Amino acid sequence: MQTLTSLPDLRAALAQLPKPLGLVPTMGYLHAGHLSLVNTARQQCETVAATIFVNPTQFGPNEDLSAYPRDMEGDLEKLRNEGTDIVWTPTKEEMYPANFQTWVNVEELTTYLEGAMRPGHFRGVTTVVAKLFNAVRPDKAYFGQKDAQQVAVIKQMVRDLSYPIEIIVCPTMREFDGLAMSSRNAYLKGDERRAATVLYRALNAAKSAYKSGERSANTLRHLMADTLRAEPFAKMQYVSCAHPLTLKDLDWVEQDALFSMAVYVGRTRLIDNFLLDGGKWVTG
Ligand code: PAJ
Repeated sequence: MQTLTSLPDLRAALAQLPKPLGLVPTMGYLHAGHLSLVNTARQQCETVAATIFVNPTQFGPNEDLSAYPRDMEGDLEKLRNEGTDIVWTPTKEEMYPANFQTWVNVEELTTYLEGAMRPGHFRGVTTVVAKLFNAVRPDKAYFGQKDAQQVAVIKQMVRDLSYPIEIIVCPTMREFDGLAMSSRNAYLKGDERRAATVLYRALNAAKSAYKSGERSANTLRHLMADTLRAEPFAKMQYVSCAHPLTLKDLDWVEQDALFSMAVYVGRTRLIDNFLLDGGKWVTG
């Protein structure tokens, strides 16, 4: 496995390696969710590249960028064990040179859900992902269903900017009790860890009501919200039942719906979702 920091070194190394090339972009502090993306890329591509870059522009002013967990040595070890060929760890100066002033922004999709709660977040994500795509020029890029809106926004960017890149979406990896794996779970203290399963429980409440025939999006949203409210350590930020591609609120749930939520457990903000895709549940 080669670990590179400069862009010219990355380009030179990639030129020597066979296609197709798969890219797994990450912000590090890797867990089994990230590694499942690498594993899928390993099965589908001749060369697997991963990037580790804690992207400052996708953090809001009240989101603690400096506290974001980091473990470069551990991450490289995990990527090596997963069969990664190349890891790019660009510097902040490489990604955002002095006087940086060019942004990629997906306009409408980013006004909903996470975008509404975290202004500027997706502008940071799409700008950095565009730069990673330009640097690595992968044939396929791997993203987690865990961040459902990120997937929708990146697919939109790929279409709008004509990137010749196939976006592969991998299911959400969960802990034994249903909590979606996340670097942010490291912040959960004591009782908060147990309380954090409330997102999974709320999503399952919507899923079983749907399975029993409930089709009103409002009723399903209320069911999720009621489950969240019953957990004293949790504070709901939003619940949503929306179309998975347009992210617009649904009135009635038929074959395709994204059930998603953001919840504070203590000071930790968690998100999770279940996708109803052509009548089939994708829950991780
Ligand atoms: P990060 O949060 O490090 O996540 C990297 C990738 O891992 C994303 O595609 C995310 O959806 C996926 N992932 C996270 N938790 C997962 C889980 N439990 N199961 C499956 N996949 C999971 O997402 C980002 O970084 C950044 O926004 C990035 C795209 C790298 C741009 O900076």
